[in-house]
Amino acid sequence: MMDYLKFFNLTDDPFRLTPDPLYYYPSQEHNEILTSLNYAIEQKEGFSLIVGEPGTGKTTILRILIENWKDRAEIALIMTPRLSPEEFLQAVLEDINVKLPSVNKNEMIKAFRDILIKHSETGRRIIIIVDEAQNVPDETLEELRLLSNLETEKEKLLQIILMGQPELRKKLQAPHLKQLDQRITIKATLKPLTKSETSDYVNFRLIKAGRGSVSFDDDAKKALYIMSKGIPRLINIVASRALMAAFVSGNGTIKKDHVRYAIDHLADAPQSRGYLKLAGYVALGVILIAAIIFGAVKSMNRPQPAVTQEKSPKAGAQGMSIAGTVQGGQQRILTVSVESANLRKGPSLEAERVSSAGRGSVFRVADEKKDGTGRRWYRILSADGNEYWISERVAIVGTMAGTQ
Ligand SMILES: Nc1ncnc2c1ncn2[C@@H]1O[C@H](COP(=O)(O)OP(=O)(O)OP(=O)(O)O)[C@@H](O)[C@H]1O
Ligand SMILES: [Mg+2]
Repeated sequence: MMDYLKFFNLTDDPFRLTPDPLYYYPSQEHNEILTSLNYAIEQKEGFSLIVGEPGTGKTTILRILIENWKDRAEIALIMTPRLSPEEFLQAVLEDINVKLPSVNKNEMIKAFRDILIKHSETGRRIIIIVDEAQNVPDETLEELRLLSNLETEKEKLLQIILMGQPELRKKLQAPHLKQLDQRITIKATLKPLTKSETSDYVNFRLIKAGRGSVSFDDDAKKALYIMSKGIPRLINIVASRALMAAFVSGNGTIKKDHVRYAIDHLADAPQSRGYLKLAGYVALGVILIAAIIFGAVKSMNRPQPAVTQEKSPKAGAQGMSIAGTVQGGQQRILTVSVESANLRKGPSLEAERVSSAGRGSVFRVADEKKDGTGRRWYRILSADGNEYWISERVAIVGTMAGTQ
C-alpha cells in the first residue's frame, strides 16, 4: 500500500506542528534570541522578555533553551499561566521538585527562599520560564517581581523569562507594572523568517524528515513565503497541505499550484493573529495530517502512471494532472470529515452501504447529485478502482487547480 511518506520517500512527517527541537532551524532571529537568553541566564541578568507574533517559534526556542540548561539549573516551565499568585507559586515549586509545606502563600515563599539559599552555594540557577506570558494576571506578575526581591545575596540566581505575544510588551508599560518593566534588562522581539530563510527552512525540514524525493520548486517557495510572511507555523500548515495536494495528483515536485491549492483551502486569511484563528489552522493541520496518514493511502492504489514523478522541464509548466480524471479543468478532492462515513452504491440514504471510510480519507470526486430531500451526494473514485456515493454531510470538498 502506498502512503504519502512512502510516496515521497520520507521517513517522517516534515511539517508537523509540534515545537520539536529535532527540527529546530537556526534562523538568524531564532539564534540571536537564544543567544540573548543563554547570556541572560549565564550573566544572571534576572528578567528577560521575548515577544513575537503567534507561530513565530517562541515555544520552540524555549524547548531548546531548556535542553541547554536542564542539567545545570532548576527549571520551572509555566505553559498555562492564567494562575493566581498562589497557583503560580505552587506550579513553580512543583516543577523544581520542592515538597510543598502547604499551599499557604507565605509558606510557599519561605520554601522558595530556602531553595535560593541552598543553591547560592553552588551557583545553580533557578529558572522560571513563562510561556504565553501575556495571560499572566497582573497580580501574579507583581508576585513574580516580589519573588525576585527575595534574594538577599549579591548573586541573582533566580532567572525569569517571560515569553509572549506582542501585546505583553504593551501590558507591561501600564503604570502599575512599571516597576517590573524597569527590571527587565533583556527585551527582544522574535521576527519571522526572511524569504531566503523560508526556502532554507522548507529544505531543512525535508532533510530532517529523510529528504526523500520531494522538493518544492522556486515558484512554490515564493508563494509559500508570500502567504506565510515567514511565520513558521503558517509555512508548516501550507507546506503540508501542498504536499498532500502533490501527493494526490501524483507529483513528486511541489509546484506553485499545489501551494495555491493549499492556501485556497485554509479557513481564513493568512495575516490573522487571533488565537481562535490559529487554533483553526492547527486544527486544519491536524485534519490534514490525519488525511495524509489515513486517507490518502486509500487513493494511492491507483495505476502506476499517476505515481511516477513528472519530470517537467519548467516549473509549473505541466501543472498538476490527476490520472484519468482531469480534463483541463479542476479536480475536486473530497475529504471525509467524520469518524466513519458510509460509502453507498447510489446517491441516497436508501442505497446499499457497501463500504466505509475514516476521517481524513481523501477521494477524487467524479460527479455529484442531489437526492429527493435536497441532500447532495458525491460520486467518488476509490483506490481499488471502485466508485461509491458519499453524503455531503460527512465530507469536505475542495478544488485543486487542474492542468493549465
Ligand atoms: N526555528 C524553527 N525551526 C523549526 N521549526 C520552527 C521554528 N520556529 C517555529 N517552528 C515551527 O513553527 C510552529 C510554531 O512554532 P511555536 O509553537 O514555537 O510558535 P509560538 O511562537 O510559540 O506560537 P504561539 O504564539 O502560537 O504559541 C511549530 O510547528 C514549530 O515546529
Ligand atoms: Mg507557543
